[in-house]
Amino acid sequence: MGRMKSMTQRIRSSSSRFSRILGVGSYRPGNVVGNEEICALIDSDPEWIEKRSGIRTRHFADADETIPVMGARAAEKALSAAGLTPSDVSCVILCTMSYLYQAPPAAAACVAELGARGAAAFDLGAACAGFSHSLAVARDLVACGQSEHVLVVGAERMSDIVDPRDRSTAFIFGDGAGAAVVGPADEPGIGPVVWGTDTEHLGAIRQSRSFAEVRGDPLARWPFLEMAGPEVFRWAIGAVAEVCRQALAASGVTVRDIEAFVPHQANVRIVDAAVKALRLPASVEVARTVREDGNVSGASIPLALDTLAAAGRVRPGALVLTAGFGSGLSYSAQVVVAP
Ligand code: UT7
Repeated sequence: MGRMKSMTQRIRSSSSRFSRILGVGSYRPGNVVGNEEICALIDSDPEWIEKRSGIRTRHFADADETIPVMGARAAEKALSAAGLTPSDVSCVILCTMSYLYQAPPAAAACVAELGARGAAAFDLGAACAGFSHSLAVARDLVACGQSEHVLVVGAERMSDIVDPRDRSTAFIFGDGAGAAVVGPADEPGIGPVVWGTDTEHLGAIRQSRSFAEVRGDPLARWPFLEMAGPEVFRWAIGAVAEVCRQALAASGVTVRDIEAFVPHQANVRIVDAAVKALRLPASVEVARTVREDGNVSGASIPLALDTLAAAGRVRPGALVLTAGFGSGLSYSAQVVVAP
């Protein structure tokens, strides 16, 4: 009984704080691929791609730009922006949908690359909603006193899992990484997450078959990612704004309090539709990095946030609305204070 009481006291004393993003960073592979190059392998044209998706370029990683390496480079920048070093990191959550090793986890390899010795490390799979899901977990790990500084890393090599000859996906996705350091704060810096899964569309974005099916069969097709684009598009046009509305309400703020909108970058038309449906004031900075980066899945939100911050388009302390959505169909949204 006495031991239980001291445990209760100990937990109470460490769980009365808030958390916030202390710094962000990003990494883009050097290889920039334009629409013309993509069209060499699919029946399409560069103007169609730009008109239907907003995408003009994307980055494709070289062999040595692995997910742990790109994640570590983005993380170094986020740590440096926060005035921290890898030894300050107690936990790394790495979200990805394109890591092709089951073991060791990408987060563990990222910890090794970063030199964050001893940090806890785990991968989180929620496809393109991975970053906003991970941020929700990091927020509570810090707020409840479990961890001091949690590194949230989104890193993708979508070029490994997308078929360059599939005209419904080849032009959309890109590679890269983004990271955010979450640490303790006196005021709330990350609002409650609003999240869920719409399993009516479970198969709308999926790996075509299990790796088990192609095992030992040299003639088997690689299990590429498949997407029912129009189905996801129609869903996103309605759902993203609704989830954002709920996230604003959960944080007790309105669109008039928001200075920037950084949704997952899937298609500029989805971003524009959400801006319109939410009636965001014209003064709100809106991320449209999908134009240059394509859809970088779990990395897109931190990449976009870092891009806006580096350009001086989001001031430190500004309220930013974020929302992720993707395969599942999974979604999550929250309001955050910019670092
Ligand atoms: O990150 C996870 C979440 N993912 C998303 O949010 C992706 C959501 N989906 C989309 O962004 C859009 O659906 C796409 C950009 C993938 C496609 O745009 P769309 O406006 O939905 O085009 P569509 O698939 O409805 O195709 C329209 C037309 C069709 O021709 P018809 O039937 O009108 O004659 C297609 O055959 O465009 C044709 N088409 C193409 N034309 C040139 C389809 N793909 C291509 C192509 N190039 N690559």
